Amino acid sequence: MNVSGDEPHRVLVDGRAAEAVGVFDRGLHYGDGLFETIAIRDGAAPLWDRHWQRLCNGCTRLGIAPPHGEVLRDELAQVAGGAPRAVVKIIVTRGAGGRGYAPPGDVRPTRILLRYGWPEYPAAHWTNGVQVRFCRASLGRNAQLAGLKHLNRIEQVLARSEWQDPAIAEGLMCDEQGKVIEATACNVFAFAGGMLRTPDLSACGVAGVMRELIIELAAGAGLETRVEPLSREKLLAADSVFLTNSLIGVWPVRKIEEHQFGIDGTIRELAAKANCVLRGE
Ligand SMILES: Cc1ncc(COP(=O)(O)O)c(C=O)c1O
Repeated sequence: MNVSGDEPHRVLVDGRAAEAVGVFDRGLHYGDGLFETIAIRDGAAPLWDRHWQRLCNGCTRLGIAPPHGEVLRDELAQVAGGAPRAVVKIIVTRGAGGRGYAPPGDVRPTRILLRYGWPEYPAAHWTNGVQVRFCRASLGRNAQLAGLKHLNRIEQVLARSEWQDPAIAEGLMCDEQGKVIEATACNVFAFAGGMLRTPDLSACGVAGVMRELIIELAAGAGLETRVEPLSREKLLAADSVFLTNSLIGVWPVRKIEEHQFGIDGTIRELAAKANCVLRGE
């Protein structure tokens, strides 16, 4: 199994080096579980507390017993192996179940940790901004799952299959009502009139840890963030637009289809602060 190019792969399943999970695992059958994608810097995970909190909240909402915090941290350190830069993905599923949706009473969660190489993106993505498109694939509204980083990512898979052009860094996704929610693997912010706006995620979308950090950093800098429904028109009328996730930090958007955007100094400052946190400073 070649997980990440030249890098020796490291995979732990329930604490043991392994390359496979059981064929009855409910994560495979139903997407019955959660995941976290975590940036590693010098073997550490600067955003760990936020990832851990989201994982625990997700487990509570889905009725999955959360992993033991110290065990998970220890496994994360093992898998990260002191790497200068890497990505560790944690998957927690409800565990193995019989045929049928009803979880067995004695089900035990499965814990999978995988290390990947650090994705190399062009430096211009941060300095000049990225070009993005709108996807045709939409996000279903379901308050029960909204915000969770659950394993069911077929909507994002379909959306990401819509383009191959490497010049397009991301695709924006709307809900069935046409409101902008996020990009395939990022949250989205619009800056206009000295204020940030980011879509309300109470019906769909992933509540990103970087989104949360940006809202806090903005508040610390006296910049208000409105969390509200965001139409395409409002997004396209913004002065600046940017994307966030816990690996990239902040990517300014320079173009959405034919619409060009500037990169306001406020956004550059915010991005610099987020990068400091990502570097563990
Ligand atoms: C669908 C989706 N939305 C948002 C995000 C951003 O989340 P985070 O900031 O926690 O990385 C991701 C990250 O992978 C994602 O897959």
